[in-house]
Amino acid sequence: MDSNDIVSSSSSNDIEAVHNKFNNSSATADSESDKKKSVNNNHISATASNSGNNIISEILNNHNVNSCKSDIKTITDHWQNGQQLWSLSEDSIYAKDSKTIVTVGHPSVNSVVPLDLLRYIYLPEHPHYRLFDSGTRTISYLKARSFVPVKSLSLCEKKRILVTGGAGFVGSHLVDRLMLMGHEVTVIDNFFTGRKNNLDHWIGHPNFELIRHDVVDPYMIEVDQIYHLACPASPPHYQYNPIKTIKTSVMGTINMLGLAKRVKARFLLTSTSEVYGDPEEHPQPETYWGNVNPIGPRACYDEGKRVAETLTYGYMQQDNVDVRVARIFNTFGPRMNENDGRVVSNFIMQALKGENLTIYGDGQQTRSFQYIHDLIDGLILLMNNDYREPVNLGNPDEYTIFEFAEFIKNEVNPKCKYTTLPATTDDPKQRKPDISRASEFLGWSPRWSLKQGINETVQYFRQQMAAGVI
Ligand SMILES: NC(=O)c1ccc[n+]([C@@H]2O[C@H](COP(=O)([O-])OP(=O)(O)OC[C@H]3O[C@@H](n4cnc5c(N)ncnc54)[C@H](O)[C@@H]3O)[C@@H](O)[C@H]2O)c1
Repeated sequence: MDSNDIVSSSSSNDIEAVHNKFNNSSATADSESDKKKSVNNNHISATASNSGNNIISEILNNHNVNSCKSDIKTITDHWQNGQQLWSLSEDSIYAKDSKTIVTVGHPSVNSVVPLDLLRYIYLPEHPHYRLFDSGTRTISYLKARSFVPVKSLSLCEKKRILVTGGAGFVGSHLVDRLMLMGHEVTVIDNFFTGRKNNLDHWIGHPNFELIRHDVVDPYMIEVDQIYHLACPASPPHYQYNPIKTIKTSVMGTINMLGLAKRVKARFLLTSTSEVYGDPEEHPQPETYWGNVNPIGPRACYDEGKRVAETLTYGYMQQDNVDVRVARIFNTFGPRMNENDGRVVSNFIMQALKGENLTIYGDGQQTRSFQYIHDLIDGLILLMNNDYREPVNLGNPDEYTIFEFAEFIKNEVNPKCKYTTLPATTDDPKQRKPDISRASEFLGWSPRWSLKQGINETVQYFRQQMAAGVI
């Protein structure tokens, strides 16, 4: 195992100790010189003897106690830091330099959370205490359950919240925020594109439940709010099985609206800027009806979401379900799937690997990119606001794909070159949200610059690569 495969130095000592004990399990050779001999040859062997297995559990147990203690100390330090920020000013967004963002969320809906605390979750120094051994291609998990502190809410403040698709990119960040706010969160997900790892840090928490379930089938649960996200969102994923995608959008939304109706929960649909298709109006206000090809390769997603919106307002008008609709524009951040074919993850991964950046078409098509924390702020604000019409959530800063590629190249790897390929079918030529509605009714506008968001995202992908996860 080379030293890069070891993500925690304390863990590396433990593994070293395991190995030494394996080597010496029949003899009691404990001398320093004997230990040194085996330092560079660490493997947890699948053919270990029974006594070896006992030793593993003994050492892992010790490790857990110690790592737990240090975990709790780090968490407490982070949290005290957070408490200070919190008590200084609930709406303090920037540090003294007036550029560095220190909190996310909005005081109006009690969603303010210190950024450091979220970073502790998605950019941990020792990622999930996961040790990857490239020699045996095994992963060891050495972590006892310990959780970051969540707010303590009274029974009447605490909501029971269902997040469908909560194991995905957007869903897992939403879950982090709702958990830190002190609510009870249940996730249902079929793990088509989501990962348990995205929620690993909450599994076992008394306020959290993770259920494997496909929203195409009905599900019954008593909740106060439903964030309905379940649906693959990247073109390769939603085009992999177009019929399943449209079933997810249509039957999944009917099932969740039916649930909202039965238990009188407020329902929020995560719709998409794709409902505008290849827009003839620019930027796109919510009043624009869209220009969608109903039989093209993107139709299963675009038309699926359009029907999901129709269903949502149908249930509102016919059955008085309390609904919200967010039309989300391109969003990026940590936990994006590294090979989901979206332009942000594509460019970052290609730049990190030193490959050419792939540009489809002439690169003059435009996109706007929103950082994940801004989106989560907007979703929570919308859910807890009285406004019922669809609301665009996106960053109106517009870039051509070529400008964006240049930006990534400069930020990540200036040596990269470009490869151009033909444009994909029905690729929209321009995208830019009109966010006046979000600004007027929710008091929301994006705070994160592209540079700030990209820096965090690149840091995340670098860390995942170093940990052998991608
Ligand atoms: N990320 C963006 O830029 C963006 C833009 C517009 C809209 N959205 C919307 O936001 C939501 C989340 O997107 P994301 O980027 O996190 O995508 P994602 O693919 O990372 O997450 C989708 C989640 O839904 C789950 N899922 C899919 N089909 C399911 C089914 N039938 N039953 C249960 N679970 C199912 C997946 O396993 C995954 O966990 C989607 O509804 C998407 O349409 C996202």
